Amino acid sequence: DSGLITLDPGYKNTGSTTSAITFLDGEKGILRYRGYSIEELAEKSTFVEVAYLLIYGELPSQEQLNKFQNEIKVHTLVHEDIKKILEGFPSNAHPMGVLSSLVTSLTAFYPESLDPNRSADKVNLSIIRILAKMPTFAAWAYKNEVGHPVNYPDNRLDYCSNFLKMMFALPAEEYQVDPVVANALDKLLILHADHEQNCSTSTVRIVGSSQASLYASISAGINALWGPLHGGANSAVIHMLENIQKDGGDTKKWMGKAKDKDDPFRLMGFGHRVYKNFDPRAKIIKKAADDVLSKLGVNDPILEIAKGLEEVALSDDYFIERKLYPNVDFYSGIIYRALGIPVDMFTVMFALGRLPGWIAQWKEMRENHEPIGRPRQIYVGHNLRSYVDMNNR
Ligand code: SDX
Repeated sequence: DSGLITLDPGYKNTGSTTSAITFLDGEKGILRYRGYSIEELAEKSTFVEVAYLLIYGELPSQEQLNKFQNEIKVHTLVHEDIKKILEGFPSNAHPMGVLSSLVTSLTAFYPESLDPNRSADKVNLSIIRILAKMPTFAAWAYKNEVGHPVNYPDNRLDYCSNFLKMMFALPAEEYQVDPVVANALDKLLILHADHEQNCSTSTVRIVGSSQASLYASISAGINALWGPLHGGANSAVIHMLENIQKDGGDTKKWMGKAKDKDDPFRLMGFGHRVYKNFDPRAKIIKKAADDVLSKLGVNDPILEIAKGLEEVALSDDYFIERKLYPNVDFYSGIIYRALGIPVDMFTVMFALGRLPGWIAQWKEMRENHEPIGRPRQIYVGHNLRSYVDMNNR
């Protein structure tokens, strides 16, 4: 073929697109959404406002925010037939698999979302619909697992409180959302909202580049996020910390495993393709962990194990040479746990947070009329050879 194919496994040195949404500086540990620093947004904004910012590019006026929130509320209810799909799942179905299936089912309930040439207003309706229904799908994935009846959205509540109530409310029991829990969740969702061309966002873009619907693209992103090297790391961190706890807190043994090339074990929640310095989100989450646990009066011994592990890793040559620092997933699970969220729902929480980022990136890719993603390869297989009949094999 004409032209040179440059091989770049994992796209470590490949820019797949131009984007005006999120800026990362891996050396300086900088993260900005549409030019605003993550530190300021985590401190001063709300998740719904950040979703608006990421998707439409500007901080909303009060009127725009009210309209956006009301549009979402109008579309929170989920078609009763989707509940039948949920009832088809076994109770041991992983919540991420249930979530991605429920999201894909939206293509059946809203077939106009399949039309690649539909108007901008219709695209915006698709966006509002999935923003509105994702908390319900996430909560229902959990209810399916614990075998409890589902709850329907309560539009009197804000986005996070509504999710928490759908997740935890039980029949015949009064459920009051704890504002400390709702605020902590809101801040975590802001911190997860976008992160330029990570694995799951690149998946959303490449699926969307074939003119697949927004829902099919988001469902693909959920499945890419599921892997333990990506969004699945937040629950893998907790399992790792619990194993270290069972080992009597023997961090040295686990550090040894993490450095042993023959041992597949990696220190989960450490390292990052872009951040070669502290992940700015990890810094905020670590501080929030202390804050939230003390406010909730939770004393979780694995928080101390996590801090001890971080200390050992940050002074270990192997980790220093490879610039391995705690990433967004290292401390987030400790907060989720304190909020009462079960460990195999942690990646669902990541998906809930990342949804506006996936939407914004999909929208930008489609508005820029980007070509279908189709990389090449270097062929290393057989040269031409003739067919061999069965009796000669
Ligand atoms: C997320 O991309 C994003 O932006 C993702 C994310 C987002 O917001 O979307 O930030 C969210 O996915 C955070 C990452 C969560 N994953 C984990 O915590 C899993 C553990 N981390 C590693 O698997 C790894 O660090 C990755 C996957 C995060 C990054 O992998 P890279 O960039 O491909 O780096 P690599 O595997 O080539 O590692 C470079 C070296 C290797 O050693 P050498 O072969 O050079 O001797 O560092 C070592 C690796 O063995 N290494 C680790 C390690 N991470 C890298 N060794 C031990 N423990 C680790 N965690």
